[in-house]
Amino acid sequence: MDSLSKNKVKAANKKLYNAIASKYDEIDGRRSLELRSWIKETLAQLKAKGGGDKLLDLGTGSGLITSCAENIFSTRIGVDISSEILKLNRSKPCSSVVSDVDKLPFKSNSFDVITCFAVLHHLYNFEDLVKEISRVLKPGGVFYSDHDMEALFYKRFWPILKLYRIFHDASKRYQESSDKISKEMYDLTEVHENGINSTELTSLFNNNGFNIIIKYHWYGLSNITDKLFAKKCFLSGFAPLMTITAVKEH
Ligand SMILES: C[S@@+](CC[C@H](N)C(=O)[O-])C[C@H]1O[C@@H](n2cnc3c(N)ncnc32)[C@H](O)[C@@H]1O
Repeated sequence: MDSLSKNKVKAANKKLYNAIASKYDEIDGRRSLELRSWIKETLAQLKAKGGGDKLLDLGTGSGLITSCAENIFSTRIGVDISSEILKLNRSKPCSSVVSDVDKLPFKSNSFDVITCFAVLHHLYNFEDLVKEISRVLKPGGVFYSDHDMEALFYKRFWPILKLYRIFHDASKRYQESSDKISKEMYDLTEVHENGINSTELTSLFNNNGFNIIIKYHWYGLSNITDKLFAKKCFLSGFAPLMTITAVKEH
């Protein structure tokens, strides 16, 4: 494993999200009432599936998931590598813990549900993460991740995506919002901007004692795609976003 690159990616995430914290919600944009209501529905289903009341949200940022989880989970803990972005989490009562997702400061078998929203593509690799999820989740507990792109979709549609990125330059938006953010730093944080290999991820979860299902969809990206594709599921390679549901075996 290239631990130097891995540490560089973590350091870049910490610096970028510390720098952007106060403007993150505005720049990220994914905050519509429709999206929040979809997240709430999803969290209620996850609670029923996980069979308990304790939620851990990884890479929680300003608390999109933990705030949607109010009135659904009685224990809600969000962890993030950026201490500044955690200060923005106003959902109460909710604990915020500064931590790297690769080394979670919790006892084994502590949580019924673990969520991870738009975070996987910021991680250099997933081996330590999956081991930690497997350790802190109770047997029968559920891991849920969403809003990361699948590699096969990029492979199939890369010319269109490249063109899209010329007109919707997220890197420029981040750099313009803080002089502490460079292009190199942004690129390091978007380490999987061309997608995550869902086959490799499936093997990793299976090898760590999970039953995993991955679905592919377009929901929550923009008003136009929400109208065109709604919440429909597509075959792998025909929708950008991956929904991962992984249940820890008893
Ligand atoms: C795109 S934001 C998503 C935030 C939130 N989940 C949301 O959907 O609004 C990615 C978050 O992952 C965090 N992050 C990146 N690498 C991390 C790591 N190794 N450990 C913990 N958090 C990390 C970042 O600091 C950032 O807050």
